Amino acid sequence: MTKREYLTETAEWKLLEEHFKKIESTHMRDLFRNDPERGRKFRVDNCGLIFDYSKNRVIEETMDLLLKLAEKCSLKEEIEKMFNGERINGTENRAVLHVALRNRSGKPVMCDGADVMPGILNVIARMKNISDRIRKSEWKGFSGKSVKNIINIGIGGSDLGPVMACEALKYYSNRDLNVRFVSNIDSTHIREAIIDLNPEETLFIVASKTFTTMETMTNALTAKKWVTDFFGSEKAVANHFIALSTNKNDVEKFGIDTENMLEFWDWVGGRYSLTSAIGLSVMISIGYDNFIRFLDGFHEMDNHFRDTPFDKNIPVIMALLGVWYNNFFGCETYAILPYEQYMHRFAAYFQQGDMESNGKSITRDGRRVNYSTGPVIWGEPGTNGQHAFYQLLHQGTKIIPADLIGFVNPLHGDRDHHNKLIANMIAQAEAFAFGKTSEEVVKEGVDEKLVPYKTFEGNRPTNVIMSERLTPEILGNLIAAYEHKIFVQGIIWDIFSFDQWGVELGKVLAGKILKELEAGENEETDHDSSTSELIKYYRSRCVEQKNK
Ligand code: F6P
Repeated sequence: MTKREYLTETAEWKLLEEHFKKIESTHMRDLFRNDPERGRKFRVDNCGLIFDYSKNRVIEETMDLLLKLAEKCSLKEEIEKMFNGERINGTENRAVLHVALRNRSGKPVMCDGADVMPGILNVIARMKNISDRIRKSEWKGFSGKSVKNIINIGIGGSDLGPVMACEALKYYSNRDLNVRFVSNIDSTHIREAIIDLNPEETLFIVASKTFTTMETMTNALTAKKWVTDFFGSEKAVANHFIALSTNKNDVEKFGIDTENMLEFWDWVGGRYSLTSAIGLSVMISIGYDNFIRFLDGFHEMDNHFRDTPFDKNIPVIMALLGVWYNNFFGCETYAILPYEQYMHRFAAYFQQGDMESNGKSITRDGRRVNYSTGPVIWGEPGTNGQHAFYQLLHQGTKIIPADLIGFVNPLHGDRDHHNKLIANMIAQAEAFAFGKTSEEVVKEGVDEKLVPYKTFEGNRPTNVIMSERLTPEILGNLIAAYEHKIFVQGIIWDIFSFDQWGVELGKVLAGKILKELEAGENEETDHDSSTSELIKYYRSRCVEQKNK
C-alpha cells in the first residue's frame, strides 16, 4: 500500500487553511458585486449540462489552491490507475472498472492482461435478448402466458440504482409492463409486491453480486415458494426466475438454470453496478435503445472526467467544493435536490453511493485520519423539500451545501407547471446565496420586532446543474459525474472508496441474534444487559414461542 504524507500536513492543505481564514467571512453578495462576470466564470458547460458553481464561497485563488491539493494527491495518476484496471480497491485486492461497463469507444479495456470488453458486450447482448423477448410478450411463463410483471429482488447496489433509474426514466418506459422492486427483508415488502399479481405472468429477477445476502436470498426463497406452490412444480423456476450475479455456484444451488443467469465481475462494486447486468430491469422497462443511450451518457462523462483539465472538469470541481465545505467550513451534510419529480430516488441512490464509499476513517496505508471524510448525503425533490426542510437550510445554524438540478423542458409539455417549478429552483439558489439584509427588511416596512426573524443571512452555497431535458443520456451523464466526484474525494481523503467493511459487523451479529431469537425462552445469551433484555422481550412476546 502506498505511503502518503498526512493530508493535513501537506503544504497545500496548510495554504488552504490560511486562505480559509481570509475568506470565511466574505459574503457572496460582495463576490458577485466585485465581479460582474462571476456567473459565467464559475461555470462549466459540458456533457449536455451546465454546471454553475458561482454561488459558492470561493474565489479564483480558492479554486487554484484546491486544484493544487488535487495535484498533490496525484489525482491524475489515480484516475489513470482506475481506467487502466489496476487493483485500486486495496483491501479486497480488486480492480474498479465500472467505467468499462459503459465503454462505447470500441477500444479494449484491460484488466490483469485480458480485455474485459468481449465479456461485457456479450452480457449486454444477452440482456437485449431477454429484454426484447419480454417487451414483445415472447417470454412465456410455465403455463404459457406471457410475463408482464417484473419483480427485481435485490438490496443496496442491487436495488437502489435500478429503482432510481427506472423511476427517473419512467417517461420512456413501456407501460404494459409492471416493474416492481423488493429489497427489505421485512416480508411486507414482498407480500405487497405480489399481492395483486398472478404468478403465471410474473418474472423474478434475483439481483445479487454475492448471491448470499440475507435479505435477497430470503425474499427470493419466498418468491420461489410462491411460484412453485402455485404450479405444484419446481420446474416452473426456469420460466419465472432470472439471476444477476457473480456467483454461479450459488445461483445453481438456488435452482436457477445458468442459462437464465447474467454474470458480472468482482471488479464491479455493488453500488457502481447499475450499468452491469444489474441494470436488466431498467433495460426491460425502457428498452434496449434507450438503455444504450443511457450508457452513452455515462461514457461521455467518463471521457470528460478522464480527459478534461481539472479546472474545467465537472466531477473534479464538484469534489473539490465538497472538500472545501466538509473540511474547512466543517459542514457535516450535503443535500442533493433535483427539481424533477422523476428523479425522486436520486438522492437516496447517492446516499449509498457516497456514504458507503467515503464513510471511512482509515487511510490507504492503515492510519486513522485526523480530518473529516464523507458527508451525510440526503435530499428530496423540489419543490416538496421547500415546504419541509428548507427553513433550516435558509435560517438554521448549520450550513448545508446543496446541488440543485433542473431541466429546461418538461417531459409532459406542461409549461405552466414547469415554469413555476424552475422559477422556484433558480429563486432558491438566489435566496440561499444573497439572503435578505435587515436593512432590506426594514425598507419593506416590517415591524421592528419582526426584523430579525425576517432577515436571511444568505451566503449558503449551492451548485446549480441544468440541462435541456431529462433524457437517458443526461441521466447517465449526471450519475457518472456523481460517481467520479466520490472517487476524487476518496483520493483526496486517502481512503479506500470501493470496499464496505463497515456493513459487516451488523450482519454477523444479526446472524448470531437470529439464532438466539429462535432458541427456547430460557436459553442463555451472552450479550450486554440491554441486548439480552431485548432478546428476552422478543422471545417472551413471540406468539410461536408461546405456543411451543
Ligand atoms: O450492504 C452491503 C452490500 O454489500 C452493498 O455494498 C451491496 O450493494 C449490497 O450489500 C448487496 O449486495 P449483493 O449484491 O451481493 O446482494
